[in-house]
Amino acid sequence: MKITVVGAGAVGATCADNIARKELASELVLLDIKEGFAEGKAQDMMQTAALLGFDTRISGSTNDYTKTANSDVVVITSGLPRKPGMTREELIGTNAGIVKGVCENILKHSPNAIIIVISNPMDTMTYLALQSTGLPKNRIIGMGGTLDSARFKYQLSTTLDCSPADLNALVVGGHGDTTMIPLIKHATWNSIPVTKFLSDEQQEKIIADTMVGGATLTKLLGTSAWYAPGAAGAALVESIVRDEKKLFTCCVSLNGEYGQSDICLGVPVVIGKNGWEKIVDMELSADEQAAFNKSADAVRSMNDVLKTL
Ligand code: 2OP
Repeated sequence: MKITVVGAGAVGATCADNIARKELASELVLLDIKEGFAEGKAQDMMQTAALLGFDTRISGSTNDYTKTANSDVVVITSGLPRKPGMTREELIGTNAGIVKGVCENILKHSPNAIIIVISNPMDTMTYLALQSTGLPKNRIIGMGGTLDSARFKYQLSTTLDCSPADLNALVVGGHGDTTMIPLIKHATWNSIPVTKFLSDEQQEKIIADTMVGGATLTKLLGTSAWYAPGAAGAALVESIVRDEKKLFTCCVSLNGEYGQSDICLGVPVVIGKNGWEKIVDMELSADEQAAFNKSADAVRSMNDVLKTL
């Protein structure tokens, strides 16, 4: 199994580190445009192999895509991260050109790869990857909802004082501060609805804190977060390479599902060796469906910006 992570910044490097520690690949390539940067990160990570006991060969490349040839899975993290006060959407002008170029280069050398998109604005970058590559839709996966659902579980676990691993909770819709929809009425603590234990005020706060989860960290860190985004990318890689068929919320192409078409948006999907293998239909309430439609409208307006670039 060969995996490439494009972009050796904090998110890409953390994702690669998780992939190596989990031994998801025999070969892992980290690529960046900054001279020597990916090589340095790869060497640093390789020097943990003897300490951590993993057997993945990690190499770095400065923009030489021949080194990525025949990758089975490619994770795209390239582009500018958010600065405090910035929305993910403000990155579209710079990141669209970068992501389009990365997709073209990747496909030249790895025509059969499954692509995971992390770059922001993630829903629009996933749509762009799908449009610009013309790949079968199942091979393009946007990571956002996987991260947002993990953040939702974190917020629930701190209020409920329980293990995040005991929670089932999904965030659907877009990966934006105002477009994501934490589905609190469907969330359970080992099958028990979490709403049984939470006041209306607590529920509202958990939803609000989840939605600005990324922005809160950007404010604290001075740049966007990396541990959870990197781990979310690696969790998707793991479900693909081990054919786990785990259910995650991912940003995928919708053709009528959840009432939307010609858009990539976060819905529950099964992730396995073929990429996203099926969209799982959960019954949304009228309010949830209305929020999903509103989220789709906002993402669609962002996708329209692509035509002007
Ligand atoms: C975040 O929310 C990187 O978009 C990512 O932290």
